[in-house]
Amino acid sequence: MKKLADIGLIGLAVMGENLVLNMESKGFTVAVFNRTVDKVDAFINGRGKGKNFIGAHSLQELVASLERPRKVMMLVKAGQPVDNFIEQLIPLLEPGDIIIDGGNSHFPDTIRRTKYVESKGLLYIGTGVSGGEEGALKGPSMMPGGSPAAWPYVKDIFQSISAKVEDGTPCCDWVGEDGAGHFVKMVHNGIEYGDMQIINEAYHLMKDLLGMTDDEQHEVFKKWNEGKLNSYLIEITRDILAFKDEDGNPLVEKILDKAGQKGTGKWTVDAALDLGIPLTLIGESVFSRCLSAQKDLRVKASKEISGTKPNFKGDKQQFVDDLEQAIYASKIISYAQGYDLMMQAAKEYHWNLNYGGIALMWRGGCIIRSVFLGDIKKAFDQNPNLENLLLDPFFKQAVQSAQESWRRVCATALQNGIPVPAMTSALCYFDGFRSERLPANLLQAQRDYFGAHQYERIDRPRGEFFHTDWTGHGGSTASSTYQV
Ligand code: 6PG
Repeated sequence: MKKLADIGLIGLAVMGENLVLNMESKGFTVAVFNRTVDKVDAFINGRGKGKNFIGAHSLQELVASLERPRKVMMLVKAGQPVDNFIEQLIPLLEPGDIIIDGGNSHFPDTIRRTKYVESKGLLYIGTGVSGGEEGALKGPSMMPGGSPAAWPYVKDIFQSISAKVEDGTPCCDWVGEDGAGHFVKMVHNGIEYGDMQIINEAYHLMKDLLGMTDDEQHEVFKKWNEGKLNSYLIEITRDILAFKDEDGNPLVEKILDKAGQKGTGKWTVDAALDLGIPLTLIGESVFSRCLSAQKDLRVKASKEISGTKPNFKGDKQQFVDDLEQAIYASKIISYAQGYDLMMQAAKEYHWNLNYGGIALMWRGGCIIRSVFLGDIKKAFDQNPNLENLLLDPFFKQAVQSAQESWRRVCATALQNGIPVPAMTSALCYFDGFRSERLPANLLQAQRDYFGAHQYERIDRPRGEFFHTDWTGHGGSTASSTYQV
C-alpha cells in the first residue's frame, strides 16, 4: 500500500462509502474521515478491510496522509456543513491544494465558495454526482465545475470511477467554471422530476382510464423499454409495477400518494424564473408533487366536488401506442426546455458549456440515463450552435410524427378528468413555440392601458416604444419616464 493517499474523503454515509470503494477498486488509495470518528474505524474494519484505505481520526490526520497537491472531497449534507468543513480545511491546506464538494449543493453557493477558496490560494471543485448508491459504487455520472486549474489533477480519478458509454467514453467531463457543474446537476434533477411526472401521468391514464392492471402495465413498460423510450426510469417503473407485497398484490398500490422532494426541482424552476426561461414541464412536475402532498385536502375535496369520471370508449391498444408517442414528445419538450435554461445560464454566468458533452455525461450512470440522450448528443455534434433542440432536424421530425398521438392523449385525458399537467403543458409550449404570433399584443395593450407600460408596433422598427391614451383622460406620461 502507498504511504500517501491519492485523495481524501470526508463523509462516510452510504454515498461516501460507495464512492471510496469505487475509487479503491480502480487502484487509488483513499484516506477517509467522518465527523463521528467511530464510523472511520467501523469502515476500515468492515467494508474497507484489507483494502487500500487510510483511516483518519481528525482533519489534520486526513490532510497529512495526502499526496500533494492534496485533494479533499466532501460528501456531506448540502448547506452549512460544507461551509464549516471549508473553514476547517483552509488553514490545514497549502496553495494549489484542492477542495471538492460532491454533494447536491445549490449552484450559487458553489459560485461563492469557488471565489472564496480561490481567494485563499486554493482550488475548488463543485461536482454533481448522480446515480444513487449503486451508481456511486459501480459508476456514477459526474459533472465537475469550479477552478479549471484543478481539473487535470482529478480528471484521472473522476473519469476512472465514472460510468462509461458503450464505446468506453466516461460519463464525466469538465463542465465549466465555478458553479457550472452544480448547475448542470441541478438541471439533471429538474429533468428527473419531469421524466418521472410524465411516466406517472402515463401510469395514471393506463390505470384509471383504461382500467389496466399493474401486471398489464408492466408488460407495456417492458415493451417501451425496448424501444425509443429505453431508459433507467422506464426500466425501474417496469420492475416496480411487477413487484408484489407479501400478500401477492402489487406493492405500489399500497404506497401513500404523497410525493416528497428535497428541493432540487424547485431550484431548477427558481433558476428558470430568474433567467426568464419557460421551463413549463419541470414547473408542473414540481407543482404536481406539491398538489399530491395536499393529501388530506384532496381527500376532503374528492368527497365534495363531483366532476367528469373516466369513461374510455376507444381502442385501448391504439391509446397505449399513442401514449408512447405522447411520452416521447413530452420528453423532447422537457429536454428542449432544460437545454434552453442551460444556454441562458451560460450567457448569464459566462460559462462555456459543451451541450453535447453534457448529454454524454447524462448518457450513462445517472438517474435520467437513456438512449434518447445519445440522440441529443448527435444533435449538438451536428450543430454545436443549435438554438433549441426542437430546431434540430431529427427532433423536429420526431415531434411532428408524434404530434397527432400526443394531441389525442391530452384531449382524451382532459375530457375524462385525468390530470396530465406535464404532457399538456409540454403541448401548449410546443404550440406556443411554433406560433409566429401569440396574443401578447393584447397583453401589451392591457399593460399600456392600465399602467402606461408602452408597447412596440409591428409597423415600426423594434426598440421604438409607444404609449396610447386609451381612455381619453389618461395623460401622456409613460411609465418608463418615471420611477415609483
Ligand atoms: C441523483 C438523484 C439524487 C436524488 C435526488 C432526489 O442524481 O442521483 O437526482 O440527487 O435522488 O435528490 O430528489 P428528490 O428527493 O427531490 O426527489
